[in-house]
Amino acid sequence: MGKVIGILSLKGGVGKTSSVVSLGAALASFGKKVLLVDANFSAPNLGIHLNVINPEKTIHHVLNGDFSIKEAIHQLDSFDLIPASMYPKKQFDPLKLKEKIKQLKGDYDFVLIDSSPALNNETLAAIVSSDELFVVSTPDYSTLTMTLKAIALAKKRGTPISGLILNKVYNNKFELSLEDIEKTSEVPVLAVIPHDVGVLKAQYYFTPSTYLKPNSNLSIEYKKLAACLTGEKYAPFRIKEIFQNVSPKRQDVNRELFYKTIF
Ligand SMILES: Nc1ncnc2c1ncn2[C@@H]1O[C@H](COP(=O)(O)OP(=O)(O)OP(=O)(O)O)[C@@H](O)[C@H]1O
Ligand SMILES: [Mg+2]
Repeated sequence: MGKVIGILSLKGGVGKTSSVVSLGAALASFGKKVLLVDANFSAPNLGIHLNVINPEKTIHHVLNGDFSIKEAIHQLDSFDLIPASMYPKKQFDPLKLKEKIKQLKGDYDFVLIDSSPALNNETLAAIVSSDELFVVSTPDYSTLTMTLKAIALAKKRGTPISGLILNKVYNNKFELSLEDIEKTSEVPVLAVIPHDVGVLKAQYYFTPSTYLKPNSNLSIEYKKLAACLTGEKYAPFRIKEIFQNVSPKRQDVNRELFYKTIF
């Protein structure tokens, strides 16, 4: 039975969709069968990241009963996608998402749900449809506030939060530290994704950034997160770390602990 993972944040533009694409591609690169679902029903753009523009069958059609969920699957090179309509023509019920996705759980190892930042039924649908959640945050006070709100909402709905993906990290003194974010949120940070213009480049070429620049720090971090979800041992050889005598980072330790809870 596949695992449904919701990628959540109540703050717009923090990197939910980019994380869904990069993590999905990283999971697929470990040979897993992966489906990405756009559940940002009011402002969808997962399809646009992957060159699926103006699709004829979308999650909206599934939720309004026009098509079955299997009919809305778009097969891409290494994973599958269910996109959403930019301008849906009929009424639909977001809360039907859970029962629809359930029909596909046997067909995939991982289903990743991209979500909306809006505090309404579409976000709720993503939360209740997921077996577990990753909350995307950036290291600043305004996003952390919304991260705390997202965590509280997920807890209220009973969906476990596996960890935070800390995105767009510059590593400068004006950012909140990983330790402070963990202390405040009481959720472990499982990935620290650098701010990287490669994400924009990847969107320009309609390809996951983990494929475009597989050896970038960003790609390696997504692959490490994917590895701990799949049970792979992924330790990229980095010569500079030998010379710097690098000790494990906090997120490496968190991933190891998380891995031990699954395998
Ligand atoms: N690690 C990163 N480094 C640099 N830019 C990034 C990074 N992650 C995302 N971005 C950029 O930030 C912008 C917002 O990203 P994205 O669309 O993934 O956010 P989102 O949380 O899904 O937004 P929304 O809430 O609107 O759905 C995009 O232009 C994307 O290219
Ligand atoms: Mg998005």
